Amino acid sequence: MTTVTVIGAGNLGSVVAGIAAKGGTGVQVLARDAEKAQAVAGPLGGSAGVVGDAVTGEIVVLAVPYAAFEDLIAAYPGAFDGKVLVDVSNPVDFSTFDDLLVPADSSAAKVLQDAVPGAKVVKAFNANFGATLGTGAAGPVQTAVLVAGDDADAKRTLVDLVTSAGLRAVDAGSLKRARELEAIGFLQITLAGAEKISWAGGFALVD
Ligand SMILES: NC(=O)c1ccc[n+]([C@@H]2O[C@H](COP(=O)([O-])OP(=O)(O)OC[C@H]3O[C@@H](n4cnc5c(N)ncnc54)[C@H](OP(=O)(O)O)[C@@H]3O)[C@@H](O)[C@H]2O)c1
Repeated sequence: MTTVTVIGAGNLGSVVAGIAAKGGTGVQVLARDAEKAQAVAGPLGGSAGVVGDAVTGEIVVLAVPYAAFEDLIAAYPGAFDGKVLVDVSNPVDFSTFDDLLVPADSSAAKVLQDAVPGAKVVKAFNANFGATLGTGAAGPVQTAVLVAGDDADAKRTLVDLVTSAGLRAVDAGSLKRARELEAIGFLQITLAGAEKISWAGGFALVD
């Protein structure tokens, strides 16, 4: 059975762990706080541990703020090599709410791939609010997870994980597209922050 390791037991980590479990993927949840990890993994029949424990999943989801990537990379030297490493982040500079923390011609996913060249980095989930991942719908439209990455097998693995849980997943192209996905995620957050849309809504994909 495929296993996913979700690092981070907050909003997004919980919902992604739930998606994985619903689709029949085994779940390991690691967090700084063992109790928080157990609270997410326990009801899903998964295993829990703390950051620094061995990563058992072939897929690893970094469900932490972009600013925490550096800590996780330092905590896991070499451990992400060969893994499907999923970047869900929206690297918003929350001190200004006006910029991303990555250069305009780059992306958090590209920065991550450069830092962990042995991993197969995939960008996913960042353009969805957690609520729409949980319910499976954004308004009347089925939730669509946009997936970008340079490794076709890695993308397929993630697409399978998402679709097995009854959500839609769409291959959005190479890892270069992460830049556009992060722009969409950023805009969506500013719209919700300004109360022009709800945190349970957001952009939807219609054929
Ligand atoms: N929430 C959403 O709707 C949503 C949607 C799309 C993408 N995202 C992205 O998902 C990621 C997580 O967001 P979230 O909403 O789940 O945030 P959250 O609820 O605040 O959870 C953040 C998680 O990251 C952990 N964390 C923070 N700094 C860490 C560090 N240095 N080392 C290890 N763990 C650390 C936190 O641990 P503690 O509990 O110990 O602080 C917590 O488990 C972000 O990159 C965000 O941009 C979120």
